Parts: sequence; C-alpha cells; structure tokens
Amino acid sequence: MRRPMVAGNWKMHGSREENARLVAGVIDGVNGCVAEVLVFPPAVYVAEVAHLAAGSPVGVGGQTLCTQAVGAYTGEISAAMLRDVGATHVLVGHSERRAMYGETDAVVAEKFIAAQAGGLIPVLCVGETLEEREAGITEAVVARQLEAVVAAAGIAAFAQAVVAYEPVWAIGTGRTASPEQAQAVHGFIRGYFAAKDATLADHLRVLYGGSVKASNAAELFGMADVDGGLVGGASLKADEFVRICVAAR
Ligand code: 13P
Repeated sequence: MRRPMVAGNWKMHGSREENARLVAGVIDGVNGCVAEVLVFPPAVYVAEVAHLAAGSPVGVGGQTLCTQAVGAYTGEISAAMLRDVGATHVLVGHSERRAMYGETDAVVAEKFIAAQAGGLIPVLCVGETLEEREAGITEAVVARQLEAVVAAAGIAAFAQAVVAYEPVWAIGTGRTASPEQAQAVHGFIRGYFAAKDATLADHLRVLYGGSVKASNAAELFGMADVDGGLVGGASLKADEFVRICVAAR
C-alpha cells in the first residue's frame, strides 16, 4: 500500500568522476526494484547527476534549500532552482543542519514550506540525541519537531511529504537502532499523524536513517511502520546501496 523508498544522502562526498560511476552503478542495480530510489548529491552536482539519471528509475534531490524563494541571499539555493535542474525532493532539517548550521524548528518549518512552494517534496528529518534518549524524552522531542512543521504548514501538507526518523546517536556511528527501537518511534510518528488525519497517516512514508547497511536493512524494513531508509555512508558504494534498495519491499 505504501511504496517503500530508499534515499541515499551523499552528504559532502563525491566528485564528477565518482558521482558518474556511483549513479551508473545504482541505475544498473535497481532496475525492477520495488522501492522508489533517490540520491541526494551535494548541491553543485545535483544538475549533472539528475542529467545522468534522467529516464532511469533513480530520482534526485537536494540536501537543503533556502527559506526564501529569490533575492539577495548570497550562497543560498532556492527550491525552484533545485527543481529547475532536475531535483524532485529535498532533505529538510537533517540533524547535521540542525546541529552544525543552527537550523531551529522554526527554520526547518520555513524550509519545508519553501520546498513545497517551489515544487519539491520535502523529506523532513527528525530524531533525538543520545542525551535526549537517555533522558526518556525521545517521543517529546520528535513530537516537538513534527509539531513545529505541522503548525506552520498544516497537516494536509504532509500528503506531499516524507518523514525520516534519524536518531542522532545512530548517524555515522555504526550503532543502528534495533528494529524494535526503530519501530517504536515509527509507530509513534504514525500515531501522531493518525490522531490528526487517519488516511493521511496511512499513506505517509516514514523512513529510518542511521547506520543502515546491506546487512541490517531487511530487518529494519521488515518492521510495520518502517517504509524504507535514508542512507548515508552506505549510499556511497553502488553495490551496497543497491542491496539496501532491494531489501525494501
Ligand atoms: P549514516 O547512514 O552514515 O549513519 O547516515 C545517516 C544519515 O544521516 C542519512 O541522512
């Protein structure tokens, strides 16, 4: 009923040469795959990767965007620009943006709205830090992050959005959430939306991110409310990423 999605967040990795090799390998491997497959290259490479992936089953997205549509915002990139060069999706509120570039819940909400206004599907990232998990406030943190966007954009906006649960302590650490830990939060996220709109919640895709690898993907994706993955490190190797895509069904 919900088509699974696997998204590769390349973060700040790659070169024209490496990207061409990587995207060719991914296109080659994911043909006939059940999951919707996307890659998120660094901004300067989005156009070229989108060109290389045109006509293939692999979609392309941006890693972040500007809150504003156009104007004197030196260094920034708008949703419409990303769309213009072939992106269909954009990550919003990745924990690295929140932690290192000062993106507050309010800024994340503005970016979510800007993404949709520019014709992109936002992939809204939420997740708690280790401290927050140990303090027993995981659900409160995730609810706060979601609520900021729902309050600003409206619940109906989530019919054209994807949510990614990425526990900060599992990102790039090799320490994956167990399938049960992931399901607990994914179930909470779906319940949060179901309380507002049951049909929307039923269709909403909630991806898991944080040390997803070919060796743990099937287990994670087998959980009832895990609709695929947002993959960092393991998306930089075509064969590993393809195995993760194939595990989503
Ligand atoms: P890793 O898969 O490298 O842990 O990164 C997860 C992530 O942040 C994807 O957005």
